[in-house]
Parts: sequence; structure tokens; C-alpha cells
Amino acid sequence: MKKKIIAVCSAKGGVGKSVLAVNLAVALSKKKFKTTAIDASFQFGNLHVIMDLHPMFTIHDAVEQINELDENLIFSYLSPHDSGVYVLPAPSKPEYADLISYDSLNKISNLLLSNSDYLVVDTPPGLTEHNLNFIEKADHILIVTDLEMTSLKNTKSMISVFNALGLGEKIKIIVNRSTMKSLIKAKNVPQILGEESLLYIPNDFKLVSKSINIGIPFVIHYRRSDISKSIFNIADLISED
Ligand SMILES: Nc1ncnc2c1ncn2[C@@H]1O[C@H](COP(=O)(O)OP(=O)(O)OP(=O)(O)O)[C@@H](O)[C@H]1O
Ligand SMILES: [Mg+2]
Repeated sequence: MKKKIIAVCSAKGGVGKSVLAVNLAVALSKKKFKTTAIDASFQFGNLHVIMDLHPMFTIHDAVEQINELDENLIFSYLSPHDSGVYVLPAPSKPEYADLISYDSLNKISNLLLSNSDYLVVDTPPGLTEHNLNFIEKADHILIVTDLEMTSLKNTKSMISVFNALGLGEKIKIIVNRSTMKSLIKAKNVPQILGEESLLYIPNDFKLVSKSINIGIPFVIHYRRSDISKSIFNIADLISED
């Protein structure tokens, strides 16, 4: 099986990237894939919070040892989660984000990939240099949007950029909170974005916020909820590709 990078990105912040990245990583792990998640939200990463991990090390420590890093050593910087997912957490301080160079990130992601079936990358919003690095290497680019007009407008611009970069084939557009009460309905989104095949994650604020607050991804104990089914559906689509 080819090892695969999944970049979870969005044009606007707060649309649900981290929730998707965590639950998708756990879903892939439940499907018996060796899955590693990188928290590439280097300034304000929160994957470890959503997964209730208390990391000993972060990517900052790995970068400090970049010349010594090999396939075995990188493993010691990862935080194991009960689900089987390994997480490389974001730095503990926002100012460390600037110390992560393009070359060290390349080395780290290649080493992580050599030990994983899937590398799920949670990114901060927008088209930053680091994000583009992951996006260009990714096998699957998940663009997350919600039903707000501003998100949809920015998502449309992001899709155009990726198409211009020749990445169109790798894109999957995910409409999060698709059942939310809103002036714009999920059924209007294909026309607004000019895209036919979209994936949908329903709105479930109660379950999502509870799961974030207790630090247990909802796909673990609420496998049969509609929101978990939508995440497993995305995991199936990706792993059948
Ligand atoms: N499907 C959903 N149903 C209900 N609420 C949701 C759903 N997905 C996300 N949320 C809510 O949206 C909030 C933001 O989610 P999340 O942190 O995953 O966004 P993000 O895109 O990673 O944000 P940032 O751009 O800051 O990294 C969550 O705290 C949660 O309350
Ligand atoms: Mg996030």
C-alpha cells in the first residue's frame, strides 16, 4: 500500500479542521491503518487538547535535534493516543513556530511517513508557506468549509488556486455543520462553489463540544451517530482510493 499524506485545510479559520483531522485519524486507525497526525497549526495547535494528550515533546524538540533525527528517533517525539494514533504536537509556545524551517519540516514528514500508512496534517487556515508545502506533497487535500458566505467565498478562491497549481484531482471539499440552521443551505453549496461532488459532515454541537471538552474523539464512543458515520465515510473514500 502506498503511504499517504492527508492535508486538512481551509480558507477561513474555525470551520472544523482540527475536529475533522482528529476524528479522521482515529477512524483510519480503527480501520487498522498505522496513522500519525502532525499538528501543523504551529502557533496555536490544539490536537493534543482535543485528544487529551499531555505531550512530553513537541515538533519544537524534534527540530532542535534535526541533524540526529532518524526513523527511530523521531518516534520518541510522538505522543501515543489510546486509539493507536501517534501525534506530533505543535510547539508549546507560539513564538517557536518561526523556528521550524522548510527543510526540517520536510525531513520530519518524510521520516513520519516511513512509519505510517497515513499522515494526517492539521493546518492553520489559509495559504501559508508551510501549508503549501504540505498541500503540494499531499495525496488527499481536504478543504473544509461551513455554510457561512465568507467561508464559501474564500473556499472558492482556494479551490481556484489549487486548480491553477494542478492539484484539482486531489481535492475533496467537505461541508462541515451542513445541517446547521443557516440562510445558506447545504443544497445551495454546489452551485455557489461551482463544484458537484461534495462531502458533508452534519452539525452536532452538543456531541462535538462535549467530545472536545473531555478530550475523547467522538468516533470512539459514538460510532453510530450521524456525525461519526460521515467521518467513517470519508475514511472509507480515502482508503479505497
Ligand atoms: N460538525 C460540527 N458540529 C458542531 N460543531 C462543530 C462541528 N465541527 C466543529 N464544530 C465547532 O467548531 C469549533 C471549531 O472547530 P475546530 O477547532 O476544529 O476548527 P478549526 O478549523 O480547526 O479552527 P482553526 O482555524 O482555529 O484551527 C469547535 O470548537 C466546535 O465547537
Ligand atoms: Mg484547528
